[in-house]
Amino acid sequence: MTSRPQKSAGRAPGFVYREAKRRLSKRAVQSVLHCEEIALSKLAESYGTPLYVYSQATIEERFHTFDHAFRDVPHIICYSVKANSNLHLLRLLAKKGCGFDVVSGGELERVLLADGKAAKKVVFSGVGKTREELTAALKAGILLFNVESESELWALAECAGRVRTTAPIALRVNPDVAADTHPYISTGLHQHKFGVPICDARALYARASNNRYLRARGVSVHIGSQITDADPFGEAMARVADLVRALRADGHTIDYVDAGGGLGIAYDGVQPDFSAQVRAYAASVRAPLRKLDVRLLLEPGRAIVGPAGVLLSLVVYKKANNGKRFLIVDAAMNDLIRPALYKAFHEIVPVQLTLGASRAAETVDVVGPVCETGDFFARDRELAEVEEGDLIAILDAGAYGMVLASNYNTRPRPAEVLVAGKSAKLIRRREKISDLLRPEI
Ligand code: LLP
Repeated sequence: MTSRPQKSAGRAPGFVYREAKRRLSKRAVQSVLHCEEIALSKLAESYGTPLYVYSQATIEERFHTFDHAFRDVPHIICYSVKANSNLHLLRLLAKKGCGFDVVSGGELERVLLADGKAAKKVVFSGVGKTREELTAALKAGILLFNVESESELWALAECAGRVRTTAPIALRVNPDVAADTHPYISTGLHQHKFGVPICDARALYARASNNRYLRARGVSVHIGSQITDADPFGEAMARVADLVRALRADGHTIDYVDAGGGLGIAYDGVQPDFSAQVRAYAASVRAPLRKLDVRLLLEPGRAIVGPAGVLLSLVVYKKANNGKRFLIVDAAMNDLIRPALYKAFHEIVPVQLTLGASRAAETVDVVGPVCETGDFFARDRELAEVEEGDLIAILDAGAYGMVLASNYNTRPRPAEVLVAGKSAKLIRRREKISDLLRPEI
């Protein structure tokens, strides 16, 4: 089989093959994967590998598409920082008017560093917020605490009392809605640790309203991540809408509904029309809330940054064990853990393709150098044949890639580069081994 020329690698418009100006021969032309206007091979030369590369235009376009889908209702997009928390990306989004969903004191600090005025658009989620984290968020003056248990409610009241302020709260309710996704990232069923059961919420709001340091402002929900079907979002929202009506009848002022994040992307090569997908999602979320006159908060992470990033890696060795072929690349599970952790599929493409010359495809495992069998990016995958020293790109790695990277095997984490048109900016330098050793000395 010969590899066919691909116009765009995967779905993200930010990553496209372009023909090199110089032909290899009369018939053969080399085609190189670019991020916007820059060849990924150039970036590998300048910054080394493994390397995360992000397309600014893709991030901006996806944010805009998401925002636009909710344009005729009052809303704030609170980008979920956990998906990719690089300061430069946060700054980029803040400039577009984006708010943020944070889940730790560290994420809050990042957001405030990226934009000193971001606090009023920050929601704070998470089941285990400590008193230190709650206090920091109270002092910063964030928009909303998504409270996940009764104990947290009283801890928050105690902290608010200490800093003499009132905490704006939403209870994160668990709507007991099933969503078709990986069990590790499904959150909306009663057996999950998240939120409070929706049936207990009314009583809890009533108890909270007796505390002078707490002020109910909204209801929040998040049913899971990488959900590609819009229906479960609507189902969850219908239950939330009933709760909002009941809470208002009880005398609470409920201005906000936080619909969480979770909209999935296509990892397998066929990108649906993103605006149509977001429109369907927006319709599902909005329909049950139609007459409620609430401000909507949305916490997308993956949908904004996932397709905007690739992990670039070098093929170090090829080998065959009893007929099974391996590409051993210089990226590993410590750089991108999704395949190892969730058996997640990421499309992998060669950075350079020779068009016109017949090049065989081969079935390979793409693996890293870490000493674990789980250290793989693809198994039994048919890929256009690449040689030692060639570059590959692991696609759709912009979300839950670098944020989940570790130093396992004492491997420094990759650098990150942001591309805008013809310019590339190093937005995180590659770690050195000395960076890793410093805290131990
Ligand atoms: N809001 C809350 C409360 C969340 O827990 C999450 C994700 C989001 C928003 C953003 O969800 P998104 O729009 O990105 O789906 N590491 C996993 C994903 C974990 C998601 C955790 N929560 C992965 O690599 O697939």
